[in-house]
Amino acid sequence: MVCYKVTLFENNLYQNKFKMMKTIEISSLEFQWQYSDSWRLKVTDFKIQAGENVFLYGPSGSGKTTLLDLITGIHTQENGSIKILEKEINRLSAKERDQFRADHIGFIFQQFNLLPYLNLIDNVLLPCYFSKSRQQKSMIDGSLKKAAQELLSSLSIEESLFGSLASQISVGQQQRVAIARALIGKPEIIIADEPTSSLDKDSRDVFIKLLLKQVEKSNSTVVFVSHDTELAKYFDKSISIAELQ
Ligand SMILES: Nc1ncnc2c1ncn2[C@@H]1O[C@H](COP(=O)(O)OP(=O)(O)O)[C@@H](O)[C@H]1O
Ligand SMILES: [Mg+2]
Repeated sequence: MVCYKVTLFENNLYQNKFKMMKTIEISSLEFQWQYSDSWRLKVTDFKIQAGENVFLYGPSGSGKTTLLDLITGIHTQENGSIKILEKEINRLSAKERDQFRADHIGFIFQQFNLLPYLNLIDNVLLPCYFSKSRQQKSMIDGSLKKAAQELLSSLSIEESLFGSLASQISVGQQQRVAIARALIGKPEIIIADEPTSSLDKDSRDVFIKLLLKQVEKSNSTVVFVSHDTELAKYFDKSISIAELQ
């Protein structure tokens, strides 16, 4: 009993510490595309705590994708600081940024971007081929395949579909495979760039609820971007890109 209480206490301590950790910290950021002086992205001070679900909204062209690309180190800024998991992403080489992204970030894209010539299991396991740490964190009883199967099952994909090509499944099923692929190996951060913009209202709501349910299980931090402000109600925190200036 005492032992159980101590473990519980330690778990709470760990979880509180984890919650206090900042996953994303941006300050005095300024970014401008080369050869374009008409548009500039500015972020004065923006922090996201570990485990938070954040909704970032703004109209088309307001810089949402640009900001995500800076956060994930796809592009780098000249001015200001972006710390991801307490690491200054700008100070890493291009190769180190690629590896950091593969190890710590799960992506969900607008068109889901599944590989049509791979089956569902191989689509889900794609991030593991680029990241040893995600591979190790995914394994169930030493098996990656089992990990992919469990994730797909928890997202209500029937076992009979596991071997089907991604090109042979419905859009609703593609959404769920995309969630599984982003979450395999429990990355600390999930980045979703307008994944609901081509969905009708009902599919959109189902998608977000499924995503957030899975994210809660893996304790990941979510940055979900959209122009559709109706989605704000699903998230812990909502912020417009204009407010970040
Ligand atoms: N690769 C690029 N080169 C130059 N300008 C770009 C590039 N990508 C986006 N932009 C410009 O940056 C601004 C913000 O675009 P973007 O981040 O895609 O906005 P959003 O995702 O909110 O629609 C727009 O004016 C867009 O034209
Ligand atoms: Mg965009």
